[in-house]
Amino acid sequence: MTPGVRPLVAGNWKMNGLSASLGEIEAMRLAADAGEAGEAELLVCPPATLLAQAAWNIRGGKLSLGAQDCHPQPSGAFTGDISAAMLKDAGATYVIVGHSERRTLHHETDELVRAKAEAALKAGLVAIVCVGESHAERQAGEQAAVVIRQLRRSLPAGGNSETVVIAYEPVWAIGTGLTPTPGDVTVIHNFIRALLVEVGGPHAAKTRILYGGSVKPSNCGDLLTLDNVDGALVGGASLKAAEFLAIAAAYR
Ligand code: 13P
Repeated sequence: MTPGVRPLVAGNWKMNGLSASLGEIEAMRLAADAGEAGEAELLVCPPATLLAQAAWNIRGGKLSLGAQDCHPQPSGAFTGDISAAMLKDAGATYVIVGHSERRTLHHETDELVRAKAEAALKAGLVAIVCVGESHAERQAGEQAAVVIRQLRRSLPAGGNSETVVIAYEPVWAIGTGLTPTPGDVTVIHNFIRALLVEVGGPHAAKTRILYGGSVKPSNCGDLLTLDNVDGALVGGASLKAAEFLAIAAAYR
């Protein structure tokens, strides 16, 4: 945790969730409104198809709503794509960019991720910029170099601690049940913090840096209270409100 920084516990539903899952979002809203997330801000990022209905259902409450990706252009002939302005219009206030699944499966480069993050800022969304090394890179001891390189190239111009959130997600920890040790997480988060301050100045001492990759109720207490860990980006364990809230309880 960083003194004076409100932690963010974010759920990334990935390609999961039909309208029947809106009840889970409703349960998250009730819990957020009841203060069950403690001092943390609670954010859910369902698939784009659920955004507008979810936004309507949680209006006026304390649960935040985000999307999982956006196109770098504001509009145009891009069949099947969704712009940041459209996400904002549907009720999102955050958008994840550069998730490793998109970097890998959709061949997204750092330059594209930066363009998406800048589009998000332009539309008035907070960009959650994801970085993280692969298993092979970790084996080679290159994790810090990889993360720093990705971050330097993916950070949007003109961002600040209110408009940009960083998520460190080691690719090998996503959906595997494996996590880095608290010491390993601290090393990378400290590197990220130093880079943010180098690039953005002292104000970047307050930029939230999330950890992601197999976060669960059983390990959140160890990981989420480390220095320079200002929350979590949670995949599988965010699909059910009860499990997600048990993670946010690390900040109660
Ligand atoms: P898991 O929590 O399922 O490992 O996923 C992490 C993730 O990719 C969140 O963006």
